[in-house]
Amino acid sequence: MLIIRDLKMSLGGRTLFENASFSVNYGDRVALVGPNGAGKSTLFSIILKQKEPDTGVVERDEWTMVGYLPQEAESIGEESVMDVATGRVDELPRLEKRLHELEAAGDVACPEYLEAHAKHDALNDSQAEIKAKKMLRGLGFRETDFDRPAREMSGGWIMRARLARLLVMEPDLLLLD
Ligand SMILES: Nc1ncnc2c1ncn2[C@@H]1O[C@H](COP(=O)(O)OP(=O)(O)OP(=O)(O)O)[C@@H](O)[C@H]1O
Ligand SMILES: [Mg+2]
Repeated sequence: MLIIRDLKMSLGGRTLFENASFSVNYGDRVALVGPNGAGKSTLFSIILKQKEPDTGVVERDEWTMVGYLPQEAESIGEESVMDVATGRVDELPRLEKRLHELEAAGDVACPEYLEAHAKHDALNDSQAEIKAKKMLRGLGFRETDFDRPAREMSGGWIMRARLARLLVMEPDLLLLD
């Protein structure tokens, strides 16, 4: 579903990687290992098309849903652990807004629209809350934590709540930085 070909990337005058080629198929689990500063997060950014490589291509099956857990998360507001795990206060409205924008532009056949639609449907599903609770339990949360403000939890727990949300969406490709 993901093919990386001949990727080269330099940052700040240093070549992070070159001639990098690999592919990821459905069901694969791949670990990317390297010292701090080696370029792992940079590679994720390239796969997500947030950064342009110097050379090379990233090809993704057109209709895949990608879930991404960044290494450094945005700061958290007032939302509860369940709010984070369901995406109901931030991600769902954000997806709705983006869908409306694309609809207004008549851009409803592009991969971005279809992916946003699939994510929106997954989070908007009547089973989403039940699934979120199941994921949270599986990741070690107690029922009594579900309604606690997420910012009372440690960074590692907030990361797990964000992971729960990704698991609720059941992406085809899950990128965990
Ligand atoms: N905008 C930038 N300009 C110049 N250099 C950058 C820029 N962004 C990242 N770098 C450099 O690119 C290198 C790779 O960074 P990256 O964050 O991808 O590494 P990493 O493998 O994810 O490291 P870590 O294990 O610490 O997360 C680092 O040396 C970093 O300083
Ligand atoms: Mg990194």
